[in-house]
Amino acid sequence: MGDDVFKEFKEHSVAEFFKKNRQMLGFSGKVRSLTTIVHELVTNSLDGAEEAGILPEVKVVINEIDRDEGIYRVRVEDNGIGIPFKHLGKALGMMLAGTKFHRYVQQRGQQGIGAAGVTMYAQLTTGKPIHAVSGYKGVKVSCDISIDFKNNRPVVSNVVKEPSDWHGLIYEAEVGDVKYDRGVYGVYEYLKRTAIANPHAQITLIDPSGEEFVFPRSVFEVPPKPKPVKPHPLGITTHDLIDFCHHSRGYSTLNQFLVNEFARFSQKKLVELRELLPDIDFKKHPHQITWEEADRIVKAFRKMKWIAPSTEGIYPIGEEQIRTSMKNILDPEFLEVVERKPSVFRGGIPFIVEVALAYGGSAGRRVAGRSTSDIMRFANRVPLLFDAGGCGITEAVRSIDWKRYGLKNFDELPVAVLVNVSSVHIPYTGAGKQALSSEDEIIGEIRNALMECARKLQRHLQGKIRERERATRKRAVSKYVNQLASDLSELAGCPDKRDWIVQQLNEIIEQKYGGTRAKMIAKKEDGEEVLLDEETG
Ligand SMILES: Nc1ncnc2c1ncn2[C@@H]1O[C@H](COP(=O)(O)OP(=O)(O)OP(=O)(O)O)[C@@H](O)[C@H]1O
Ligand SMILES: [Mg+2]
Repeated sequence: MGDDVFKEFKEHSVAEFFKKNRQMLGFSGKVRSLTTIVHELVTNSLDGAEEAGILPEVKVVINEIDRDEGIYRVRVEDNGIGIPFKHLGKALGMMLAGTKFHRYVQQRGQQGIGAAGVTMYAQLTTGKPIHAVSGYKGVKVSCDISIDFKNNRPVVSNVVKEPSDWHGLIYEAEVGDVKYDRGVYGVYEYLKRTAIANPHAQITLIDPSGEEFVFPRSVFEVPPKPKPVKPHPLGITTHDLIDFCHHSRGYSTLNQFLVNEFARFSQKKLVELRELLPDIDFKKHPHQITWEEADRIVKAFRKMKWIAPSTEGIYPIGEEQIRTSMKNILDPEFLEVVERKPSVFRGGIPFIVEVALAYGGSAGRRVAGRSTSDIMRFANRVPLLFDAGGCGITEAVRSIDWKRYGLKNFDELPVAVLVNVSSVHIPYTGAGKQALSSEDEIIGEIRNALMECARKLQRHLQGKIRERERATRKRAVSKYVNQLASDLSELAGCPDKRDWIVQQLNEIIEQKYGGTRAKMIAKKEDGEEVLLDEETG
């Protein structure tokens, strides 16, 4: 009987796996699927431009082919470095292939699944290959690409090559089971947020109605080129260590591998480690390390004292950049931006938190004509639109006692909170990369930054209340000026002085209740307000 069961024993490729489990890549729900497609392609475009030191220009065009059937054409064009022809098929038509997975570097892409995932989705929902045009080092190539799922191999056809100075990538696909939507989970919102966190990029969207939206560039400097960094011994798991060892090249012993591949790993540290683990053979080839050995090494790392990891290789958006883009896109009445100092989570992974709090203008969302607060989450400048409930960033924002800062109904205020976490290793909760796990240190940093912003907002709002009260009083008192001046001038027997009295009274009111001289108002001991002039003040 058992033999029959194993007749069906088969191996599967990673492409077949994701074909069955496309929701793991974010392909679930019509609106979300379309946003995921745009997200994967746009993150690649931004990475591809920045890596070559080019200010990114990305154009997204979405055409409706059959709305009832949910079929659309998506086209994303960038001015990046392009992809050399020999890698083009694999880059866009093979799962787990790319330039980023094996490096410890802060980029938007990490896994080498994104683009091929979109190619897969197009194929599964419309049966059509995708069309790509790549301009790289003087050659422009256009071709069609699909995936051979069984072998996880790209199938490239209709190749046309021509010389050209143009560089960049155009990726075009016909996809089904999607829907274009202007709501909070849609492509428009995604691109708007991408623009907020990437003010150095020029992003254009042409939506299915033909309307063009341009999120213009407001910062004209290319962010520094991300530098690969070595992992810190306290920042890795047993699984990571095994993975690094098995993929290592050029080392014949574990000794060499550890000293060269980890940050802060000196010969002295190696001696210390070997003393802690005398029965492990550190002369063996790194490919031969066992799970048990890796596990003991990682545990020994945690018992040793290490210099904190260096924070180079982490690039936040930058305080000034956030300020410029928030002003540009939200035009708020109040804005505070805080960039925290680099910190470390899990003992060995450095990160930087940036927070902005905007009030008024187009900050927040309008739902059925009413304002609501908006939490904009980002990881390495990529907007996270989905799975908000299970995200550490949401948890941190929700944990603030906003009432303490005079914001009674936080949910109903025209407030936008931006949180960006930058790291070479973002602790996502799943392969869909939409939520951060609740690391205590990250939550703590976000909370501190938020409280700093909230205190400033509180001061701003209190100032506004005082301003309003002053204006009301001014209006109330001004009503009596004319009558009072007439009565006074008559009483004093000099009716010709009426206008002069009006002028004097108005001046007094202006001094007392006008905005600019407000600081000249002081309180006497009995609580009465008096006006101080420059000399007495
Ligand atoms: N627009 C582009 N410009 C330049 N290179 C690109 C572009 N799009 C994709 N690539 C190349 O193709 C590779 C595969 O892209 P893909 O999106 O599948 O993976 P990734 O970006 O490395 O990681 P992730 O799965 O996290 O997105 C990239 O690593 C990059 O080398
Ligand atoms: Mg990618």
